[in-house]
Amino acid sequence: MKEKKSKINKKEFQVEFLPFEICLDVQPETNLLDATKEADLPLKATCGGKGTCGDCVVQILKGKYQSKSSAALPDQLASRKYALACQTKIRGDITVQLPQFRELSIKSIVDSKYFEERRDNISGFYEIDPPLKKVDLPLPPPTLEDNYSDLRRIERELQKKLSLKKLSCEYSVLKKLAYAVRESQGKISVVLFVSGNEATIIDVAPRSAGKNIYGVACDIGTTTVALFLVDLQSGKIVATASSLNQQITCGEDIISRINYAQKPGKLEKLHELIILTVNNLIETASRSARISPADIYYASLSGNTTMLHLLLNLDPRYIREEPYVPTFNQVPSVLSRDLGLKMNQEGRITCSPAVGSYVGGDITAGILCTPLIQDSKKISLFIDAGTNGELVAGNKDWLMTCACSAGPAFEGSGTQCGMPASEGAIEEIRIKDDGELEYKVIGSTKPKGLCGSGLVDLLAELFIHGYIDRRGKFIEKKAGEKITKTDEGKGFLIQEGKNSFWEKDLIITENDISNLIRTKGAVFSACSILLKNVGLSFDKIDSVYIAGGFGEHLNIKNAIRIGLLPDLKREKFHYLGNSSLLGAYLILLSDKNKDLATEVAQKMTYIELNTEPSYMNEFTGALFLPHTDLSLFPSIKQIFNR
Ligand code: FES
Repeated sequence: MKEKKSKINKKEFQVEFLPFEICLDVQPETNLLDATKEADLPLKATCGGKGTCGDCVVQILKGKYQSKSSAALPDQLASRKYALACQTKIRGDITVQLPQFRELSIKSIVDSKYFEERRDNISGFYEIDPPLKKVDLPLPPPTLEDNYSDLRRIERELQKKLSLKKLSCEYSVLKKLAYAVRESQGKISVVLFVSGNEATIIDVAPRSAGKNIYGVACDIGTTTVALFLVDLQSGKIVATASSLNQQITCGEDIISRINYAQKPGKLEKLHELIILTVNNLIETASRSARISPADIYYASLSGNTTMLHLLLNLDPRYIREEPYVPTFNQVPSVLSRDLGLKMNQEGRITCSPAVGSYVGGDITAGILCTPLIQDSKKISLFIDAGTNGELVAGNKDWLMTCACSAGPAFEGSGTQCGMPASEGAIEEIRIKDDGELEYKVIGSTKPKGLCGSGLVDLLAELFIHGYIDRRGKFIEKKAGEKITKTDEGKGFLIQEGKNSFWEKDLIITENDISNLIRTKGAVFSACSILLKNVGLSFDKIDSVYIAGGFGEHLNIKNAIRIGLLPDLKREKFHYLGNSSLLGAYLILLSDKNKDLATEVAQKMTYIELNTEPSYMNEFTGALFLPHTDLSLFPSIKQIFNR
């Protein structure tokens, strides 16, 4: 059974909102848009409920309702149970899907072969030696001559296999030990949590053939959460799952979540929402691998410092107050039962170590997946362009880092036509010689919007074809009939409604373009400051590693054209995907990786951009396409000269 959240006491009907799995009890005839607002869920309603904008479209998966027809909702969608929330009355228990928040599919490497092939080209260790171990023991039956206690006899057998200095045992194990030993005639499996040469027995059970123990690696992102379910004996990833972070209903970025947490009772709510998100993913992955969550004994979690504070139910306020000090950089091992995670209650949780308030464990975990700290000569740049942009420059001998508030524009929020890299997203787009657009959509469906890589392409194509100027403003005489008027000002028509999924024109507005330019400007100017602090210029960079939510189809050439990435040779760029998740996976497999991530965290020097006098100038310079200083982008300058 999925966990549900009841907002108010039972009245007449229950509305379940997916994918948030939030339930609300309402009176008959309640307006669905009002119910959505009462449940604190984000649903656009530009026309204020008049039934004219079509923004509040939802899909009603089951239940009784009555919806007025509207010109803003095509019949074809209405027949597939799409409805405008503002025009819908609830007439029974219903399940409603908020379409823009459909479950995401992980677009990243889900095969352990990824590391097998790169074993020598990553800083971390690809070895399968997790601290959680299952040991099968034959336990000779007690006799009058050998009448040591059950626990003593287990300890004796374990010592024969592993030379441990200290062995302890959880109380919950003692409770079932006598039965487990006798039920199996001494053929038992013991689960141990091993740390150095000390171990704790955390579970015991009659041996059962083919029963393995599992772990989860999880990246807790501000916008999305992604998880691998891993067989701890073989190291194989047996299932994956990802979804939106349900905290998104409480604010889109880190700062708004920290502010939200300051209101009475809201820290608790944010904590519950992230636990609920992770638990749902554990359940989904367990179901798909046909295992019980009780067989999951270890979790390696990675995320930015704010997300990990909220996960642990710790007040994040000091992260944003000068001098920006978090409660922890390294979390001691935590028990799953203390957090309420849906796994074995004696399971252990580890979190990747943070550098500080704005460079978290997601970055130290990410560095493990690159060869960045293997070499003293080559200098690399690591860019994680998520909702918060984090950057690292350096090599084996030195590491500098900084963070910038990039915003979620490339992750599908903050633009009218943006969406996550899931079904229906345009992930590649170009303007052909005849001015028509050609694009590639994820899945076999009509386009619903553009994900990060599609937005990068579109911005670059509009710029290179002269449809927008260097400030991102439309040049009407060039863009011609594709320019259209919207409530938010001028827009560029990407696809007419008759060929889009929502049967609404797919448009990018000047406001959207400004948001994208601000995001790319924040990332590029942070890179510049970081390198200037060590007296380097971009041409001294040997490799650039890109992590984050762009989707695997990020076109590097286009990212350079808009000034998101530095103008370097294409072969210097390497796309990593969700490196925080991959790093969490490496930490799950071996404690050596956690030690290495800790070393990385301690070695990094953090630059606070807010106190950098030149940051504002750099940022302003980057608010143009590709930049005010064209000498930084020689390949674009060449295009201009031509
Ligand atoms: S709010 Fe505009 S159509 Fe419902």
